[in-house]
Amino acid sequence: MRAVVYEGPRQVSVKDVPDARIERPTDALVRITTTNICGSDLHMYEGRTDFEPGRWFGHENMGEVVEVGDGVDKLRVGDQVVIPFNVACGHCKNCERGLTNYCLTAQPETAFAGAAYGFADMGPWAGGQAELLRVPWADFNCLRLGEDADERASDYVMLADIFPTGYHATEMAGVQPGDQTVIYGAGPVGLMAALSATIRGAAKVMVVDRHPDRLALAESIGAIAIDDSEVDPVEAVLEQTMGLGADNGCECVGYQAHDPGGDEHPNLTMNRLVSSVRFTGRIGCVGVFVPQDPGASDELAKQGQLAFDYGMFWFKGQQLGSGQAPVKKYNRRLRDLIAEGRATPSFIVSHELPLDRAPEAYERFDAREDGWTKVVLKPGLAA
Ligand SMILES: NC(=O)c1ccc[n+]([C@@H]2O[C@H](COP(=O)([O-])OP(=O)(O)OC[C@H]3O[C@@H](n4cnc5c(N)ncnc54)[C@H](O)[C@@H]3O)[C@@H](O)[C@H]2O)c1
Ligand SMILES: [Zn+2]
Ligand SMILES: [Zn+2]
Repeated sequence: MRAVVYEGPRQVSVKDVPDARIERPTDALVRITTTNICGSDLHMYEGRTDFEPGRWFGHENMGEVVEVGDGVDKLRVGDQVVIPFNVACGHCKNCERGLTNYCLTAQPETAFAGAAYGFADMGPWAGGQAELLRVPWADFNCLRLGEDADERASDYVMLADIFPTGYHATEMAGVQPGDQTVIYGAGPVGLMAALSATIRGAAKVMVVDRHPDRLALAESIGAIAIDDSEVDPVEAVLEQTMGLGADNGCECVGYQAHDPGGDEHPNLTMNRLVSSVRFTGRIGCVGVFVPQDPGASDELAKQGQLAFDYGMFWFKGQQLGSGQAPVKKYNRRLRDLIAEGRATPSFIVSHELPLDRAPEAYERFDAREDGWTKVVLKPGLAA
């Protein structure tokens, strides 16, 4: 089968690799119809993780079940499914509590928890930027779709990661009807957090970034765009909230947060959230931070540490939630919003490309080139 193979920093190629296959009775084999490039792939693509050359990416996957193991009860060949990026067993202590983001069985490293397809430090699972994907514990991990699966593929594929992840940010931030919510980052995840805040009834959603195309997408769903290359975003939020600060906030950037000039400051968004969220407000951080970052520009960050304004955070009595999103906690509800036409997460999609164009897509999405807001790869499309 063809797959998007990582060769080294900023280098991927589409090549033949061994076919994915059923390895255990509880597996399903899925022919991938739609698979996205994610901002999380870019941390790996840039060589800022220990993702091994020769492996392939792809954790935002959707497709058709083409084979099932003997131990699979619910799924049938021909089912259209979307697959949470979290690989989870369904029966460990964490999965039982709904914390599929920290599955203990799918992660072989006993000191870690949580697993994902085609991801650094998240278990051995192959990615889905390929023609076929092996899905373990398939009855638990696949979410079936209805007859509109093809027609709305660009919406449903967002259920694999970024729509539930954006929703999780707003859940951790405790967004309620009438709230004023600030979101740092207008990448795909930030835009899904903005959509989610709107779905939860926020009265005012403010989105901070510096890319005009991404800010325009935020405005297209009714959010207020704040361009931090033009204004101090903390001041802008205070102005929008009678000097009090937002009720709550979401971090949707991660450890490669930078100033508009491109210099990285991994503490920039977290400290700006502390300053722009009011006393007792909650912050949901889904942007990825890492325990070690050898490629970081500053000494603290190399050890995975931040100069975090903890004193002000404590003084304000704020709360913080963090980590990978438990996709399964939300994907069924969000699917039904899409099915009923109440949510259209595909508004962020800029490109639908055949798998063979992945190298170009990685390069341009990584450069946050104007107009490259979200790339959907279609292994079935002719090159
Ligand atoms: N927790 C999870 O389960 C989960 C799931 C998916 C993605 N993520 C993470 O979410 C983050 C965002 O993902 P994405 O796909 O949207 O990525 P992305 O890189 O496309 O978007 C990030 C955006 O942040 C902006 N940005 C950079 N520095 C900023 C700053 N100081 N202030 C405001 N905006 C700033 C960039 O301009 C960019 O538009 C990544 O770290 C990704 O790994 C986490
Ligand atoms: Zn993702
Ligand atoms: Zn588990």
